[in-house]
Amino acid sequence: MSAQIIDGRAVSKTILDEIRSDVATMRDKTGTVPGLVTILVGENPASVSYVTLKVRTALDLGFNEVQENVDPGISEADLLALVERYNRDESIHGILVQLPLPDHIDEKKVIYAIDPDKDVDGFHPVNVGRLMIGGDEVLFPPCTPAGIQELIVRSGVEIEGAEVVVVGRSNIVGKPIANMLLQKGPGANATVTVVHTRTRDLASHCRRADILIVAAGVPGLVKPEWIKPGACVIDVGVNRVGEKVSRKTGKKIAILRGDVDFDAAKEIAGSITPVPGGVGPMTIAMLMKNTLASCRRS
Ligand code: GUN
Repeated sequence: MSAQIIDGRAVSKTILDEIRSDVATMRDKTGTVPGLVTILVGENPASVSYVTLKVRTALDLGFNEVQENVDPGISEADLLALVERYNRDESIHGILVQLPLPDHIDEKKVIYAIDPDKDVDGFHPVNVGRLMIGGDEVLFPPCTPAGIQELIVRSGVEIEGAEVVVVGRSNIVGKPIANMLLQKGPGANATVTVVHTRTRDLASHCRRADILIVAAGVPGLVKPEWIKPGACVIDVGVNRVGEKVSRKTGKKIAILRGDVDFDAAKEIAGSITPVPGGVGPMTIAMLMKNTLASCRRS
């Protein structure tokens, strides 16, 4: 039987509709709206397309959206000064510096320079530490892991007591999602295993998973025989494997492929996210949710 397809676009639309309505109420009552600055350094095609979507979404929700598209040659000091300017700007509640940054800029220094109270990505070590503690300590759950958790919960899959296997140990996805799902509390309480490039026999670990989360960045890595029948499969991979011309706009667009062999996997899994249209839209919705929360706290 074919798996339930977990529709990230539909879920994210529901969340964004709620945020849009909350923003309108806030604006009418207080005259304030959430402020988000997106800082994009250079023209990395994937980054440009992510930031464009974030900007469009923020504007559509009625946010005060400030776009800082800066030259790839910007010095580290100038970029740090730009971040500092928005740390001090009271109309801005969220600062997003799109990663990766050019090689001459120390990414860590830039992330550390963001005020943790405006770090809507949840990448600052203060927020990483808060996430590790869990519960009320968490200010900004990082967007992609938060989107994954929300998708699993909303698709009705039981996380409590489940065997979760996370493929990939990045700071943006693998480590935080593992941490979030093992916390005590609703939408968590799972038994979590993290596997990675040095793991012996990846397949045997994956086959144990009730919930398999794949964020490896390797197109088609997970084969159908690695999936336990009926498992929930979350594919975080967004791999650009080529280009095609859009029938709608006539423009060149990237052909995206996930880390899971979707067509075969959907015949084994109980539920599965597509690429595109699964986790991706949720990341943006969670960014907007974090920015609204930050505005409320301020
Ligand atoms: N690059 C890839 N994913 C992300 C993300 O979630 N936030 C930022 N700032 N950069 C990214």
